[in-house]
Amino acid sequence: MKIGSPREVFPGESRVAMTPESAVALQKLGYDCAVESGAGVSAGFSDAVYAAAGVEVLPGAEALYAACDIIAKVRPPTETEVGYLSGDKTLISFFYPASNEALMGAATETGASVIAMDMVPRISRAQKMDALSSMANIAGYRAVIEAGNNFGRFFTGQVTAAGKVPPAKVLVVGAGVAGLAAIGTSTSLGAITYAFDVRPEVAEQIESMGAEFVFLEFEEAQTDGAATGGYAAPSSPEFREAQLAKFRELAPEMDIVITTALIPNRDAPVLWTKDMVEAMKPGSVIVDLAAERGGNCELTVKDEKIVTDNGVTIVGYTDFPSRMAAQSSSLYATNIRHMMTDLTPGKDGTVNHDMEDDVIRGATIAHAGEITFPPPPPKVAAIAARKPAEKPKELTPEERKAQEAAAFRAQTRQQVTLLVVGAALILGVGLVAPASFMQHFIVFVLAVFVGFQVIWGVAHSLHTPLMAVTNAISSIIILGALMQIGSGSFLVILLAALSVFMAGINIFGGFLVTRRMLAMFQKS
Ligand code: NAI
Repeated sequence: MKIGSPREVFPGESRVAMTPESAVALQKLGYDCAVESGAGVSAGFSDAVYAAAGVEVLPGAEALYAACDIIAKVRPPTETEVGYLSGDKTLISFFYPASNEALMGAATETGASVIAMDMVPRISRAQKMDALSSMANIAGYRAVIEAGNNFGRFFTGQVTAAGKVPPAKVLVVGAGVAGLAAIGTSTSLGAITYAFDVRPEVAEQIESMGAEFVFLEFEEAQTDGAATGGYAAPSSPEFREAQLAKFRELAPEMDIVITTALIPNRDAPVLWTKDMVEAMKPGSVIVDLAAERGGNCELTVKDEKIVTDNGVTIVGYTDFPSRMAAQSSSLYATNIRHMMTDLTPGKDGTVNHDMEDDVIRGATIAHAGEITFPPPPPKVAAIAARKPAEKPKELTPEERKAQEAAAFRAQTRQQVTLLVVGAALILGVGLVAPASFMQHFIVFVLAVFVGFQVIWGVAHSLHTPLMAVTNAISSIIILGALMQIGSGSFLVILLAALSVFMAGINIFGGFLVTRRMLAMFQKS
């Protein structure tokens, strides 16, 4: 079978669904590959590079659709492109079926199978095909770069001869895929980064990336992504009010705000209101990634960059991935290639459209002349779905005391048993072994016992610093070397000096490493 990618016709779209690299992998699956002439030019892939990778370059869209059994593209097809489809063809592209029903109907009528890359379920196995995530990752990164481009100052703080520069403060609203990418980019550029999300389970991820989670004092449990396929559920009006109050408090301090808050198939919630924009300092920047669905900022203008009267720049572009076409094409083409791998279990260049497969079923919106959207929920739970840890039962002081006493008794019993067994063993060995052996043996047993007790009592996360410090202490070797260093023989002095030097590195290095590691556990 032949798989091909046309040139994207959506104005300004620079991405392409097949790269020379992905074409090589597709050929290994047994497919012939083709592209429309000029399809990859805006992404940096000329026809010649495709041809060198064994890809047939066809002169126009019609010729490409006619020659290929599988058409992989980026944007949803236009009506003209749907007209090129027929019952024996498979189309793979972004489709957004919920908001493109007429187009879905038209594509279904042609009898073609349609796989919507935006419908790939968010389960672990499908991560490699999750094009929404790979594009959102790019959008998050690019949002920070775009913000930096419009921001007149450094991200990182500096002390220079010419003066002190404070670090920029960045707030990321919504810590999904795009938000986390934005957080990572912003912290790596040195800005003080804050992030907020309605899903409490992301707090840990936010903090592990070096940003600060904006905590909301609110009674209602923040929504849990478990029931909603890894996405957030709408929050209550009271929660929203509390959230807005918090943002209002933060607005005058923030230099850059990147909003990515969205719940699929809903309009973006307005979280950054007009008065918040007005409260920001001149020169501040807002990048609204949710512009496509109305925007999280009240003043966002879709696809445009505006500057407000108080000098705040608001960027509402909806084509961030396309602005990094080389990168996004290569990730998207890899997502498509993985989808094709799943569709070609025999690696024989023929599609096996297995509607029993969770991922293929989830992404297929039209098959054999039938609309197959919406899909049934996947059998496997979403990635983000995590059972909230059960709260331990509150104990009364008496119960706690009784529990502690019981634990202490059990521990003492265990230790006494251990001691008795140990003593009996040593006595047993002492009956037959010579006295000199027993002396060493007892020291050995005690060392094992004490070492075990010391290490067992240390939290697992502290084991590495513990090892480093043990390493330093075990450099007892230095004592021997110090005692020898005064001896008359040159060779002995040399060896002793070498030992002191090396053991010194071990000791000081060990403590230095320990100090650095322990610093990682300290709260600033
Ligand atoms: P996602 O679903 O992974 O993340 C959205 C996050 O927003 C979730 O963590 C969710 O909990 C959070 N959220 C929802 N409602 C919220 C609220 N009221 N307050 C705070 N957080 C809230 O989505 P992903 O993939 O990160 O995409 C984020 C946005 O970026 C989407 O709007 C997407 O359409 C957009 N996007 C824009 C592009 C562009 O070029 N402008 C390109 C790619 C994605």
